[in-house]
Amino acid sequence: MNVNIGNVSIKKTAVLAPMASVADRAYRLMCKKYGASYLVSEMVSAKGICYSDRKTAELCTVTDEERPMAVQLFGSEPDFMAEAVKIVLQYNPDIIDINMGCPVPKVVNTGAGSALMKNIRLASEITESAVKSAGNVPVTVKIRSGWDSEHINAVEMAKALESAGASAVAIHGRTRQQMYSGKADWNIIREVKSAVKIPVISNGDVTDLKSCIDMYGQTGCDLVMIGRGSYGNPFIFREIDSYFSGEVYTPPTVSEKMNVMLEHIRLIISMSEKTEALAMHEARKHASWYMNGYYGSAKFRGRCYQLSSYAEAEALAEEFIVLQKSRES
Ligand SMILES: Cc1cc2nc3c(=O)[nH]c(=O)nc-3n(C[C@H](O)[C@H](O)[C@H](O)COP(=O)(O)O)c2cc1C
Repeated sequence: MNVNIGNVSIKKTAVLAPMASVADRAYRLMCKKYGASYLVSEMVSAKGICYSDRKTAELCTVTDEERPMAVQLFGSEPDFMAEAVKIVLQYNPDIIDINMGCPVPKVVNTGAGSALMKNIRLASEITESAVKSAGNVPVTVKIRSGWDSEHINAVEMAKALESAGASAVAIHGRTRQQMYSGKADWNIIREVKSAVKIPVISNGDVTDLKSCIDMYGQTGCDLVMIGRGSYGNPFIFREIDSYFSGEVYTPPTVSEKMNVMLEHIRLIISMSEKTEALAMHEARKHASWYMNGYYGSAKFRGRCYQLSSYAEAEALAEEFIVLQKSRES
């Protein structure tokens, strides 16, 4: 089954959440290869784009393997947003997403990200101006449940964004105040789903197939979005995709997992403009995530943060496999 966001058709399985400094192109491609049906870029500053920030081109580029994919913008000024959308269109994104959920002070203090949950009128104006600029490219918005527990206004916000021309809303069921802690509130997502006609993408605390099925069941959402549950675990998308396609899913063995980790590290190195040693700094956290949850993984995860070459990663993976196999026998 597919879900249509404007003219973009997305398989109803699970989609990858935007994650700055984590879900870069290498990460997105790994998730796509293992079944993520839709990808979103790391957030990009609308104002930064207008002033042709050095990192813009890299952040906005959409390769064919990543499609369907959205480029996500954040900003607090309708005019800059309109201008930024025009620039981003040169990169041919399938969808343009606007970030109205980011809780970090650096973004919130400029009036962008989740600060817009406190200013629905401005949020609507920003959306309207993006929609006007985007032509037939759909514009979506990612929101939170509200600013804090006293101000849960996702329903009102989603309705206003729908009226402003948004083609879908993604909702992370936490308030800004919660940042990333506590539990995501799926009830508010269900309320949003019943209040709007546009597709609703549901997000927060999906970590495996069961929570994905529960999320679909409890919220009635159109698509489920997964962030941290995909850390070192692109297989989560395969498991979900297999379930919805009626195929048998076999979890990866430790050797398979280490091979995928090494494949991911090779991608990071090949896509980096930096030296192998510096690219390995980027790869360290990913390597440690792939080793999560196994016997002795705390020690190995610590060693991941010492890695400075691909050869060292290979040797560490080999040692990890030997340790896990010795436990099996
Ligand atoms: C490291 C990190 C970076 C994130 N960056 C973004 C971002 O750039 N744009 C955005 O809309 N959300 C961002 N988020 C929020 C996620 O998209 C998602 O809403 C949140 O992690 C909750 O989903 P989860 O429980 O599946 O992780 C980020 C989250 C994390 C952990």
